[in-house]
Amino acid sequence: MADPFVFAKPFLHMLDPERAHELTLRALEANLVPAQPQVDEPSIAIDLFGRRLHGPVGLAAGFDKNARVFRRMYAQGFSFVEIGGVTPRPQRGNPRPRVFRLPEDGAIINNMGFPNDGAEAVVRRLGGERPAGMLGINLASNGDSADPAEDFAGLVQRFSNYADYLTLDISCPNSANGKVFLEPARLRDLMARLGALDRGPVPPKLVAKLSPDIDDALLGQLIEVLLEAKIDGIIVANTTIERPETLRGNASMRGGLSGRPLFARSTAMLAQVAHLTGGAVPLIGVGGIASGPQAYEKIRAGATAVQLYTGLIYGGTALVTRIKRELAVLLMRDGYGTLSEAVGTARSARKVSP
Ligand SMILES: Cc1cc2nc3c(=O)[nH]c(=O)nc-3n(C[C@H](O)[C@H](O)[C@H](O)COP(=O)(O)O)c2cc1C
Repeated sequence: MADPFVFAKPFLHMLDPERAHELTLRALEANLVPAQPQVDEPSIAIDLFGRRLHGPVGLAAGFDKNARVFRRMYAQGFSFVEIGGVTPRPQRGNPRPRVFRLPEDGAIINNMGFPNDGAEAVVRRLGGERPAGMLGINLASNGDSADPAEDFAGLVQRFSNYADYLTLDISCPNSANGKVFLEPARLRDLMARLGALDRGPVPPKLVAKLSPDIDDALLGQLIEVLLEAKIDGIIVANTTIERPETLRGNASMRGGLSGRPLFARSTAMLAQVAHLTGGAVPLIGVGGIASGPQAYEKIRAGATAVQLYTGLIYGGTALVTRIKRELAVLLMRDGYGTLSEAVGTARSARKVSP
């Protein structure tokens, strides 16, 4: 069947990006988006957080902030879906316009600042049956919160019965409290506080999402804190406030850059995190993936699984199917029977700076 996104894209891209996104969510809610073929090769199955997944491609945070369509996204080819960022109380986020397309660059700049319906509304939507696929919930503190650690503690307790993993977003460039835990001492205190919480009978994994805008020295310190606190996984990376010189579109807008121009930086950082963690925890590689070879590069740099968002804006969900097909071909080309054999294989070939 022809991909409806091919017809919808010119129309959607004439609209303001947030309006286009709202229409996309409504189409998904109304079940108007046909499912992708579920024909994953056994070779691309992975183990993540103690579960077997049919493929390594997940939906990154920010697409389904309010848990409106997560159940539909598994049929779009994702084996895991991360909803959110969710804050304790509802908030409006930054003034609009706050999302911008850079089509020549395959990129987006967003300065959303976590607009969301708040934890209670999201809990209500999560009610009912747990989806068969893996579910992650991305957590953030309110922009005006006086105690961001308290926000995270409350969110972890509130959502523990609903998710396979909870992501601590300590890397948002667009919110007043977005980056306070990029200070190692504060991160250590936060992790100690979260570690002491009762996370219920089947505790969800705790995962940290890092910013690409930190230097190697700070990265080393943060990884040390996270490993000491027995973090279960690390997501690399969030959007960047850097503006690479290669950008062709207008990049003067405020906010975090995602998509193609983020690929090189986020993949280099992923390799660095893989080196620093030495396989102690699974890594999720995200940033600029728009093809199978790029997903493969993340996996070879050390990612157990990958996520994407911006690629969908330019390629629709057929991209998810294409990535998985291409991955299966690449694994076969390189003689790997399973995807896990390929994880981190670029590391031995990579020079690590002293
Ligand atoms: C519009 C938009 C909203 C986002 N919102 C969130 C968010 O709420 N929490 C979060 O951790 N990341 C958020 N992200 C970042 C993505 O999850 C991802 O880390 C980043 O976009 C890089 O991946 P990509 O190049 O595939 O988009 C958002 C990204 C975009 C484009």
